[in-house]
Amino acid sequence: MSSRAHLHQLVRQLRRQLLWQRDQGVVGIVPATDEARASFEARRQAHQAARQEAVRAELFEEPAKRAKPAAPETRPAKPAAPAAAAQPPKPVEEAKPAPRPPKSDPSTQLYREYKPLYEEIKRPRSRAPQPAAPQPASSDPSTWSPTRKLHWLSKHLSGCTRCPLHEGRTNLVFGEGDPEARLMFVGEGPGYHEDQQGRPFVGPSGELLTKMIRAMGFAREDVYIANMVKCRPPENRNPAPEELMKCTPFLEKQIEVIQPEVIVTLGRVATNALLGVDGSLGSLRGRFHDRDGVAVMPTYHPAYLLRNDSQKAAAWEDLKQVMARLRGDS
Ligand code: URA
Repeated sequence: MSSRAHLHQLVRQLRRQLLWQRDQGVVGIVPATDEARASFEARRQAHQAARQEAVRAELFEEPAKRAKPAAPETRPAKPAAPAAAAQPPKPVEEAKPAPRPPKSDPSTQLYREYKPLYEEIKRPRSRAPQPAAPQPASSDPSTWSPTRKLHWLSKHLSGCTRCPLHEGRTNLVFGEGDPEARLMFVGEGPGYHEDQQGRPFVGPSGELLTKMIRAMGFAREDVYIANMVKCRPPENRNPAPEELMKCTPFLEKQIEVIQPEVIVTLGRVATNALLGVDGSLGSLRGRFHDRDGVAVMPTYHPAYLLRNDSQKAAAWEDLKQVMARLRGDS
């Protein structure tokens, strides 16, 4: 770009900024009035509700039923903290429009657009700060960071032969995600793709789970995903009680280290095993259960949702309850 064109661009940006300041009734560092803040907050909440509905519709409704999300009356306000209302918008690079996420993945598109709204859900938890890596080599596990504890646990489990499931496995699937996640998902056991890759929920049901996680405002890396059993049951059968008994202590250790605020159990097997009950998923889902002080929300397994489209809306209701709890609304 020539220096003249560059100068023009700067002038345009400055003009836009000044016009914005004038519209907001703020000049320079004059803080926004209470009224402006309240109106901003109201618009933010309306926009949030509209977008949340749009995400739900994109993910969970059949195309025919999908309603176009109502266009917000005003330009969607950036959902920053109220004080930020007095900040000017970032100047837009006119020459190079930002690359758009592929149209084929609406949840990615919506997630990117909507991500800032969820920052409050993802606020750092109030855990004592962990020592920065690299950590001093200490033989006292109580001083270890969650990352190190999980690493140790996964090493300890590798080569496990405690139950017959080891005979058919290609890879043990320990689990993955943020070792300090506020939210944890627990499935029943690895399937074919997970066994091949050594990672949880990477097959078709994993794709849906990833979309559900994104619709909640998280990335996969923000949460922790694990299974009741770490090795694939043959032909994807349900894990047998002895297999669950042998493997559950390791999941319990993972939970103890991660200290999630909420665990979402996926499907009847994981729900019954983790809660130590024997009920139908229909009777257990839709409300929180307490498991040693951790809130557990049972919901449908993504594999089931792939076969039963009509239950997706119910699953989304469960996830919305989880989001509200993580926001501190309930
Ligand atoms: N189903 C599960 O329960 N867990 C996985 O990891 C994949 C599919």
